[in-house]
Amino acid sequence: MLLRLLVVFALTLFEAHAETQGLFSDDVEEFERSTNQSLLWAPYRSNCYFGVRPRFINENPLMMGLMWFDASHAQGISSLRHFVEQNDRLEKYGYELYDPRIGGKEAIIDRENNLNLTIHFVKSKDGENWAVRVSGSPLDSSKLSASSLVVYLSQNGPGGRLESEHGKTSTEKRIELKGSAPELGDYEITIEDISGQHYKRGPALGPDIDGSKTSHMSLTVPGDQVWKARDIFQSLLTDSIQNIITSGIPMDALSIPSALMIRNIHNFPPGNFHFVQKTFDLAEPFEFDIIFNNKASRQPIGSSAEVSNLISWSTNELKARFDSKFDIKDSSLKQFAQETLANLLGGIGYFHGTQLVDRSTEFDEEQFNKIELRAPREEGPIQLFSSVPSRAFFPRGFYWDEGFHMLQVMEYDFDLVLEILQSWFLLIEDDSGWVGRELILGSEARSKVPEEFQVQNPNIANPPTLLLCFSEMLTRAQEFQDSIAGGAEESSITPSSTEELLKRPELLMSFAEKVYPKLLKHYEWWTGSQRGFTEEYSEVLQDGFHPNEAFRWVGRTFTHCLPSGLDDYPRAQPPDVAELHLDALSWAGIMSRSMKQIADVLNMADEVDKFSKIEQNIIENLDTIHWNADQKCYCDVTIDDDFDELRRFVCHEGYVTLLPFALKLVPRDSDKLQHYVELMGDTDKLFSDFGVLSLSKQDEYFETGEAYWRGPVWINMNYLLLDSLLYYFQGGGENQDTATAERARAVYSDLRKNLIANMHRVWSEKGYVYENYNQRTGNGSGVQHFTGWSALIVNIMGRLPVTL
Ligand SMILES: *[C@@H]1O[C@H](CO)[C@@H](O)[C@H](O)[C@H]1NC(C)=O
Ligand SMILES: *[C@@H]1O[C@H](CO)[C@@H](O)[C@H](O)[C@H]1NC(C)=O
Ligand SMILES: *[C@@H]1O[C@H](CO)[C@@H](O)[C@H](O)[C@H]1NC(C)=O
Repeated sequence: MLLRLLVVFALTLFEAHAETQGLFSDDVEEFERSTNQSLLWAPYRSNCYFGVRPRFINENPLMMGLMWFDASHAQGISSLRHFVEQNDRLEKYGYELYDPRIGGKEAIIDRENNLNLTIHFVKSKDGENWAVRVSGSPLDSSKLSASSLVVYLSQNGPGGRLESEHGKTSTEKRIELKGSAPELGDYEITIEDISGQHYKRGPALGPDIDGSKTSHMSLTVPGDQVWKARDIFQSLLTDSIQNIITSGIPMDALSIPSALMIRNIHNFPPGNFHFVQKTFDLAEPFEFDIIFNNKASRQPIGSSAEVSNLISWSTNELKARFDSKFDIKDSSLKQFAQETLANLLGGIGYFHGTQLVDRSTEFDEEQFNKIELRAPREEGPIQLFSSVPSRAFFPRGFYWDEGFHMLQVMEYDFDLVLEILQSWFLLIEDDSGWVGRELILGSEARSKVPEEFQVQNPNIANPPTLLLCFSEMLTRAQEFQDSIAGGAEESSITPSSTEELLKRPELLMSFAEKVYPKLLKHYEWWTGSQRGFTEEYSEVLQDGFHPNEAFRWVGRTFTHCLPSGLDDYPRAQPPDVAELHLDALSWAGIMSRSMKQIADVLNMADEVDKFSKIEQNIIENLDTIHWNADQKCYCDVTIDDDFDELRRFVCHEGYVTLLPFALKLVPRDSDKLQHYVELMGDTDKLFSDFGVLSLSKQDEYFETGEAYWRGPVWINMNYLLLDSLLYYFQGGGENQDTATAERARAVYSDLRKNLIANMHRVWSEKGYVYENYNQRTGNGSGVQHFTGWSALIVNIMGRLPVTL
């Protein structure tokens, strides 16, 4: 079946390619241009509560950020918000609706600052211009707070400038800045009040120490320091207050908001960095706009009325797009899903900078102690377009997470996924084939990472989820092309405006051509560096054993196997260099399958043969090496000289043992499927009211140690399990016995229902999605506001069928 699809797809591509040779490159270029345009501007500074920057402008991008605090008391300044911090304990922050191509709405509930803040981001249809509407109101109007909002803007670089009409400072309700940069051309930024009362309850302390007026201060801040805007603001303000005190200007409680206005006390000459500060009396709501217009655009955003129109247009558009992709009737579930997806998309950032790599530290693989990476070198700069696991805690690219993020995004914007995969794939090194498992680019990104985790090393791999995702995309494209080639009048898939790639396979082909050499290198690096030592197994495993297709994770320690992504999941004790990891083999299978598919798209028959063979070997090795007939389960293995058979199975039922099933590597007609269904559905082991547990309740390591992957429910794995149940058993599971198929259907429906009910409950109570869910209570645990792979609940709610 699959092969037939592949052949049809290849033929379709071949024809498309031959017929449109002339138009081919034009088409690709047009697609790229519109992608570039629609994705140029967005709040791509994922680590900020709100910060805009352009994509692809690396050296001297226009940078914008928003900060706020309560200026009614002197300590307010220490609660100045800028970067997302879990310690800020905001009751809520995040997008309610969002799409980087369109814009969205972020809601912030900040009790400590008594502020209910709404931030709308919109763009002109040509993607060149954008506007931000900042609206605030008090959470408790009986408190006399004064909300101070600080916008900063910066345009550095040769040929870059950003200056105000009025020279050094301005105190108008409307501030106009004129800017210019080589990549952007000339542009204008206006910051304008719409409503609200500036602070007037106390007296001004001087002409430029006046809370009732907008403060505007311009100075020079080097490009690599712009991210420190918060520190700069605080230190300038401290200087100003000291000056007020030493000048003997009388102050009282009511004049504090004025004293907390930024001013140019050091007489810095104007530069390309601007602070604009507005302090509103929170007796009533306030609203102001920041509007960016490129002078060359024919669709300028001319007024605040137009911003209002764009807000209503984009709100409707975002809702309509969501509804066209996800089918969720219940209004509370729908809101949960919309926000969760919006926050995953809202985590998409654009990163540029150097990374720290240690290429010289030797790996002593016999030791199994933590290897300290003490010889980092700064390399790059490089760039990355990627989503993040959590804006507060992990605002950077993660190789292991990103494939899961994209499995979710794929259902919403197919084309966007390719753009992100491309960014990752282009970072694969031409000579080594390596790419870092965490991409921490530049000092802004590094400021959020403890030093011991900053350094990357080219011996360490991670599960290649990006290839899992790419494989899924190719399968999808094949199915679509097949439905057309098969002459089906009504294709079950109707491509939308964000599925150009489905409609025009030549685009996907051009992409495949571009990334194939990189992926091949990556494949060779991954399989080469993680290949297991198999000599000793050759003595005991003969029939059907393929010694080249056996793998283990390099870099495990006594207690952890960080490269596997399942950190503390139990492994062989004591560790041994000759152990073979079931999950490493399974992931190698996914890589091989994906390489086979992409080679097929490119009509490379020899490569298709080669990778099919490897994939087949891997599937056979699952049985030959890892199948434990007594326990009826695939397991890790290790070499034990005290053991008659030499090979010892290391069986810890849970995510590792489920992986061959979760990755669809078990043949559809395999009689082993029944054991999987049984294990997954066993309430004494893995099945719970909150999802499938990471480790069996009967395992000796269950809930021991830090209990990170030793019990809690993780959504990425549960999603794979549901998707696999669908793959194997939809319509009954042709080659399965009826009892197994029936059981599979029950496990599927119950699991889906339990996951949704529990995550929705926690979200309703706490307002957040979590990194994982407690195995006993279902309560959220780990990082809060983890709308990375936990966001796969949106597919579970809105894409996966209710029953098989
Ligand atoms: C899209 O942007 C990338 C990065 O700046 C650039 O290399 C490419 O040429 C652009 N494509 C088109 C068609 O403008
Ligand atoms: C915050 O303001 C928005 C918009 O005015 C409103 O819908 C929402 O209910 C407010 N939230 C709280 C907690 O007051
Ligand atoms: C789980 O959360 C609920 C409400 O959020 C709380 O009432 C309950 O005590 C929590 N359970 C545990 C064991 O922490």
